[in-house]
Amino acid sequence: GKVRAPTHIISTISDDRGEEPRYAGVPMSSIIEQGYGVGDVISLLWFKRSLPRYCTQFIEICIMLCADHGPCVSGAHNTIVTARAGKDLVSSLVSGLLTIGPRFGGAIDDAARYFKDACDRSLTPYEFVESMKKKGIRVPGIGHRIKSRDNRDKRVELLQKFAHTHFPSVKYMEYAVQVENYTLSKANNLVLNVDGAIGSLFLDLLAGSGMFTKQEIDEIVEIGYLNGLFVLARSIGLIGHTFDQKRLKQPLYRHPWEDVLYTK
Ligand code: ACO
Ligand code: LMR
Repeated sequence: GKVRAPTHIISTISDDRGEEPRYAGVPMSSIIEQGYGVGDVISLLWFKRSLPRYCTQFIEICIMLCADHGPCVSGAHNTIVTARAGKDLVSSLVSGLLTIGPRFGGAIDDAARYFKDACDRSLTPYEFVESMKKKGIRVPGIGHRIKSRDNRDKRVELLQKFAHTHFPSVKYMEYAVQVENYTLSKANNLVLNVDGAIGSLFLDLLAGSGMFTKQEIDEIVEIGYLNGLFVLARSIGLIGHTFDQKRLKQPLYRHPWEDVLYTK
């Protein structure tokens, strides 16, 4: 029979060898002719399957809602300073992306992990939050610098509204809201934030779509696919901030002395 030389790379998501590239087996011409959107392309390249329309729409909504949040947030600030230091687009973009992590935008995977574990184990919000406190871990997906009980995050409301209308079940999101009710009893700014909303709702999407086995869901949560949504989304805004600074011909940024407490 045929002897095949061992390969150095295994790849399962796309193939560029034929007449046209394929994403998870779907040829580019079908993607264009059948009017696929970016949510469908993400489904094919990340999840290796076509997902129902409400799922791809949800993915697209996450991307649109997280595309930017003004110039003052960690990521945009870094990008602006880097662009003003005369650096190129890629440098300015990655400088902003590097701030995405457990405090800023990159709490989605951990929110999904902790909410899933606590909800599956039927922990009460009190038991869950207090056990996190004992471990010295802030609840991922809870808390915001400027959003609060009286100044809710519109993005969270929009995601919840979409899911209530289109998802067969919002069990995990409802659990996250119960957690929020408990944390709000402690402090006004301990709201369910956009990372927590996406993390919990994506669990509902994975479980409710009927497109994933339990093992596949566990693997997605364990590997941590979901911060990718914020990284992808915010790249749109960070690229915009780079162009904005270049267009405005902004000079080198230097932080004012008056805004630094020099102390021993
Ligand atoms: N869980 C439990 N307690 C909390 C949490 C939380 N998630 N966040 C704040 N607190 C409590 C703590 O007691 C904290 O005191 P500590 O510093 O001794 O732990 C106290 O509130 C004071 O916190 P603040 O100073 O008001 O919080 P801050 O404004 O510095 O932080 C932040 C905001 C970073 C978002 C924080 O709430 C947090 O770490 N949340 C978890 C991570 C997260 O979800 N990040 C994503 C935010 S949304 C986004 O970036 C798009
Ligand atoms: C964001 O999306 O960047 C924000 O929620 C974070 C912030 O500090 O406002």
